[in-house]
Amino acid sequence: MSRVLIIESSARQQDSVSRQLTQSFIQQWQVAHPGDSIMVRDLARHPVPHLDANLLGGWMKPAEQRSAAEQQSLERSNELTEELLAADVLVLAAPMYNFAIPSTLKAWLDHVLRAGVTFKYTDTGPQGLLTGKRAYVLTARGGIYAGSSADHQEPYLRQVMGFIGIHDVEFIHAEGLNLGGDFHEKGLNQANAKLAQVA
Ligand SMILES: Cc1cc2nc3c(=O)[nH]c(=O)nc-3n(C[C@H](O)[C@H](O)[C@H](O)COP(=O)(O)O)c2cc1C
Repeated sequence: MSRVLIIESSARQQDSVSRQLTQSFIQQWQVAHPGDSIMVRDLARHPVPHLDANLLGGWMKPAEQRSAAEQQSLERSNELTEELLAADVLVLAAPMYNFAIPSTLKAWLDHVLRAGVTFKYTDTGPQGLLTGKRAYVLTARGGIYAGSSADHQEPYLRQVMGFIGIHDVEFIHAEGLNLGGDFHEKGLNQANAKLAQVA
């Protein structure tokens, strides 16, 4: 039995295409892997705070020197990191906002990229500690950017995932959603076709 962790980051609950993609993913995954557990963390409903002095203090100070706020920040980061460590499969659902990922997803990444926990520095450079995991990234985009220099989602998320040791990453882009005509339907159909192959 595998554990699947889904991270939602669309600011919209209604009409969100990335949320539609995660729903399709869940339905198809459950058919193909009926024994797996699926956990959803919704960063729009429950945003995590931006990285701040309390979080840095929580990570860096010994327990006896931490303030209550630093301890609370550390515990939040521990909870998010433990969810990630426990997962076998990670699904990131990411709308494109201003050519990049939502700030809520960036804030989550800032809580889980942790030296000594999800990566470590070695004599030969940084080493990811999350081995044996697979990730799927489901994006929704108003325009069409895959493979272009304006796509600051895929290269960034590949870099970050690789840095913590997740090298098996599959991207599914629903693109052209706001272009008018039949672009929306085409973009969605293409994404769903790819989703059906991978899930
Ligand atoms: C604040 C904001 C910024 C956006 N920036 C971009 C962008 O840079 N490039 C793009 O292709 N689409 C952009 N879009 C369109 C969204 O990517 C598109 O509507 C997508 O469907 C949103 O994901 P969702 O349907 O899961 O909410 C933006 C939308 C919003 C609300």
